[in-house]
Amino acid sequence: MTTYKEFHRHSIESPEQFWGEQAKLVEWQEPYTRVLDYSRPPFSKWFGGGKTNLCHNAIDRHVAARGKQTALIYISTETGEEKRYTYKQLHQEVCSFAAVLQELGVKRGDRVIIYMPMIAEALFAMYACVRLGAVHSVVFGGFAAASLAARIDDAKPKLMITSDAGMRGGKAIPYKHLVDEALKLAEHAPKKVLIVNRGLDREMALVHGRDLDYAELKKAHLKADVPVVWVESGEPSYILYTSGTTGKPKGVQRDTGGYLVALAASMKHIYGAQPGETMFTTSDIGWVVGHSYIVYAPLIHGMTTILYEGLPIRPDAGIWWKIVQEHKVSTMFSSPTAIRVLKKQDPAYLSKYDLSSLRYLFLAGEPLDEPTARWIQDALQRPVIDHYWQTETGWPLLSAMPGIEDTARKFGSPSFPVYGYNVKLLKDDTAEEVGANEKGVVAVLPPLPPGCLSTVWGDDERFVKTYFSFFPQRQVYTTFDWGIRDQDGYYFILGRTDDVINVAGHRLGTREIEEAVQSHAAIAEVAVVGVADQLKGQVPVAFAVVKDPSKVASAAQQSAMEKEVMDAVDHQLGAIGRPARVHFVTLLPKTRSGKLLRRSIQALVEGRDPGDLTTIEDPAALEQISSAVKRG
Ligand code: PRX
Repeated sequence: MTTYKEFHRHSIESPEQFWGEQAKLVEWQEPYTRVLDYSRPPFSKWFGGGKTNLCHNAIDRHVAARGKQTALIYISTETGEEKRYTYKQLHQEVCSFAAVLQELGVKRGDRVIIYMPMIAEALFAMYACVRLGAVHSVVFGGFAAASLAARIDDAKPKLMITSDAGMRGGKAIPYKHLVDEALKLAEHAPKKVLIVNRGLDREMALVHGRDLDYAELKKAHLKADVPVVWVESGEPSYILYTSGTTGKPKGVQRDTGGYLVALAASMKHIYGAQPGETMFTTSDIGWVVGHSYIVYAPLIHGMTTILYEGLPIRPDAGIWWKIVQEHKVSTMFSSPTAIRVLKKQDPAYLSKYDLSSLRYLFLAGEPLDEPTARWIQDALQRPVIDHYWQTETGWPLLSAMPGIEDTARKFGSPSFPVYGYNVKLLKDDTAEEVGANEKGVVAVLPPLPPGCLSTVWGDDERFVKTYFSFFPQRQVYTTFDWGIRDQDGYYFILGRTDDVINVAGHRLGTREIEEAVQSHAAIAEVAVVGVADQLKGQVPVAFAVVKDPSKVASAAQQSAMEKEVMDAVDHQLGAIGRPARVHFVTLLPKTRSGKLLRRSIQALVEGRDPGDLTTIEDPAALEQISSAVKRG
């Protein structure tokens, strides 16, 4: 038995030896020639020369030994469906899907945008892409047409895959309709759209010659056996767009071999899970947690994965625990917001089911407050593990690692740096390391470990500029989070250093929301800030200046305009970005050089001291913010 500290030290001191050992957890069609090539800092290339395939490692590899084991359980409390796929059946479904993609001309290196609800076919589509060496980019269903169009223009896909509709709270939500709108806006619209029709949107219109029905095309490929396309370790497996400081989302590019090894190792060392067990991750396939811990990692590890379409409280707040009991879930992964939602319900639901199979509940995506952590841990009588990571890293950066050592946990802390990550807390001005209990920027000394983003899609310069140029003094990866390490070595995350906010675990850029607000023709200027919220962690609040103040002169006009602006955000960005409030002011607080003082606005709204205001252009602007907030 080793300790997590020794394990971590070994990974940092001898990365090649360490990761060479981990690489044995997966299958290579051709061995790699070098574990790590760091000849072009800060780009790290892992397992160069090696050939492998994510789909092979998640599915084909297990068919011989686990052919009859369930690989995927699809549960929809929206449609009442429940379907199981053994590894063998999943293999067939993916081969059929891959054959359809081949028929449509999808080849190695082509991009495919997947805009789909939480249905089994979404997973088949993702696997089919990587099987062929094509690069998928899954866009979260909550994003509206204009956001989808921006991603289409960046990824320039050969094909789009969608569904007629998703379902939420018993209501059908059109997907294909949004794709139609997005394709009108996009400059690089693909020629074909493949549709998995669930029969939920009877009014779905089809574009002749462009729109194709998956079920029809599949008929010719029911028994297809499509060989895996072996790709070089560094070839991209997928692009996943995420928000940053600017309005333009970044395409996080993931490699193949490094990601594969990182995920396989994480299941063993971090999640402490065993092959043959069941993992239930409650995220969405459109987010990184869904990619890593619904779609890929559990299957790479020979587990059963659960794909759940529905709400945590429908038909009642016991649904997730019922799933744990029925499917003997050993490893569960959810978000603090989801637990806060459950906390408002009758606690009896938690004692109603037999949860003895459950080993750990992992939570991530946003800060886990102590009352919520205590509540769920007491209710479950199981370890609740807070862990911290990002779309960019692809797998945890700070975590307890019960697969290595069962360390005590502290509430509010995601514990320690994970092996492979040389984490430092640095002073934001001097880039020097801070001492215990001092606040610093959470940074990682390169090379980044396997699994982390290899670059920003199509833009190496942006990768270096965004992630490695925070400190002029030294080239380190910055997470853009503030953190602190206590005297016992436990880390605590204190919030972002940039203009990114976290709404119910969903990461959004305030710039993106501001641009969506400004899509309303009446708006001249706007500032959006994230404000603390009991349930969602943070919610966006907007302060807008209208071009013609007479349009918001009365209270009735203001509330009508507020509704219009919210609708504009729904339409442009998606409902996830909708501000909780839109206040109207005639002036925004800015520095003399014209920079928005978002932090001061945020402080005022949260009832805190707005901080140093010596650079403000006109103090009256802050007074307007205060009065607007007081008026409610
Ligand atoms: O600010 C941190 C917060 O979420 C950001 C990353 O969000 P995203 O790219 O969507 O990836 C989520 C993957 C789990 C981080 O920069 N965050 C994530 N986990 C935690 C967290 N904040 C506090 N505690 C966490 N455990």
